[in-house]
Amino acid sequence: MNADYHKLLKCYESFCTKISFQPKVAIILGSGLGDFADTIQIEAELSYSEIEGFPVSTVPGHAGRFVFGYVGDVPVVCMKGRVHYYEGYPIGDVVLPVRLMKLMGAEILFLTNASGGVNQGFLAGDLMLITDHIACFAPNPLIGSNIEELGTRFPDMSTVYQPALQEIIRQTAKELQIPLKEGVYLQLTGPSFESPAEIRMARLLGADAVGMSTAVEAIAANHAGMKICGISCVCNLAAGMTAQPLTHAEVQEAADKAAPLFTRLVAESVKRF
Ligand code: HPA
Repeated sequence: MNADYHKLLKCYESFCTKISFQPKVAIILGSGLGDFADTIQIEAELSYSEIEGFPVSTVPGHAGRFVFGYVGDVPVVCMKGRVHYYEGYPIGDVVLPVRLMKLMGAEILFLTNASGGVNQGFLAGDLMLITDHIACFAPNPLIGSNIEELGTRFPDMSTVYQPALQEIIRQTAKELQIPLKEGVYLQLTGPSFESPAEIRMARLLGADAVGMSTAVEAIAANHAGMKICGISCVCNLAAGMTAQPLTHAEVQEAADKAAPLFTRLVAESVKRF
């Protein structure tokens, strides 16, 4: 059996001994956007460390957890804290949580992240609907023997971010009068921020925002047949676009500022899925 699948089944077994909740929507909360979990009518929580074999961050205080509950009438599972490739995990571990949420029953994956704005029309604090991604700078999580139980060897990637879900988010933003940009998200490995030359490259390639997550998760979810959508919080203008050097603190601060609007947009959109 594929080693990633074996590990996944072990985690799922461990999950099943602790939680019996079937989510419809899985939501991954990006840096600084964890407050969203406070808007959920919480039914149960499960620390990643309680799931046997689950990749747990080695950074103290950053272990993270699943939050299960309802947004309106919709059963959701939320990830407070994700696993990043730059932390040193194999790419199979990075996407294990997505696959686990699929096994829990989630049909829809709502991805969120903090990013750097590459599009010259963007400002720090903008929210961007992800319409497509560029993932080929990170290892593909489907490399290795195909997990037939999850999906096909050569999955189509023509419409990863579901047009119908995009339209719901667009309409919701309009009704809530929340300005919403749109664009292509490019995933790099990090953890260093990009050089100005890399940002010029990203722009030439058609990226509107860059970050260190999300696209590999979307690949795994698409492989497993989930419907996917995503919103990126553009927390800073990318390297070389302003005079200041980039810091994680700046990213965090911008995410905190955008959090209330972001939270409303995600919650109201989920209710309409
Ligand atoms: N680059 C990459 N990832 C990021 C950035 C950035 O500028 N801002 C927030 N996440």
